[in-house]
Amino acid sequence: MNLVLLGPPGGGKGTQAKRLQDKYGLIQLSTGDMLRAAVASGSEVGKKAKAVMDAGQLVSDEIVIAIIDERLDQPDVAKGAIFDGFPRTVAQAEALDAMMAKKGKKLDFAIEIRVPDAYIVERITGRYTCAKCGAGYHDKFQLPKVAGQCDSCGGTEFARRPDDNVDTVTKRLDAYHAQTAPLLPYYDKKGSLKLVDGTLDIADVTKALEGILDAVK
Ligand code: AP5
Ligand code: MG
Repeated sequence: MNLVLLGPPGGGKGTQAKRLQDKYGLIQLSTGDMLRAAVASGSEVGKKAKAVMDAGQLVSDEIVIAIIDERLDQPDVAKGAIFDGFPRTVAQAEALDAMMAKKGKKLDFAIEIRVPDAYIVERITGRYTCAKCGAGYHDKFQLPKVAGQCDSCGGTEFARRPDDNVDTVTKRLDAYHAQTAPLLPYYDKKGSLKLVDGTLDIADVTKALEGILDAVK
């Protein structure tokens, strides 16, 4: 099974992709995580992407399409993928359709995790991750069981993303509405768009997503 999670910055795409991947044997493919890894490694792609990401704008279609094209050829993805943060423009969606067809794969559906803008600043500015294993947390909505200690690996160092500030969030939301929201009618016209209410608690959003995945398994 291959599916796309669509939704605004801070909408819960990464949180939900991580919760679904083990249960369904799928691989989370987050272009945001891949680009952050490229920035951390100091590669040419990372150098090009860093300023664009810090400004809350979209990295070029050419760069992200090439990253996904290469990643889809790795054997672990044969089980199926949860695309998180890709595609983000109509050009990327068309490229994904073409890539999947060329590789003999099929995109089953796209799910919009719908969250109004009014929720987003609090979601984003409260987010942090374990510096060792990357597990995600939130100051208010997703606290570790033991304060200051990661539930997954016991790590005690945490990190916040450089683009998780009020100014950049506003720009990321603008980019979402202008460039990514047109993907909703793109998938709807193909009859492959599903919707979940992303304002529910994290566990309830997972249940809604599981209902969709279980119906097509
Ligand atoms: P990316 O990393 O994809 O960021 P994003 O789309 O802005 O999405 P986020 O990761 O911020 O949000 P999320 O939906 O994953 O939310 P999360 O689950 O963490 O991209 C970063 C940048 O890279 C882009 O701005 C762009 O520059 C570039 N880029 C990436 N892909 C690209 C592409 N395809 N093309 C071009 N450029 C690209 O949740 C957020 C917080 O809320 C967490 O703390 C979580 O605990 C909490 N939370 C989650 N769900 C709930 C809930 N239901 N209730 C309460 N709290 C919740
Ligand atoms: Mg994310």
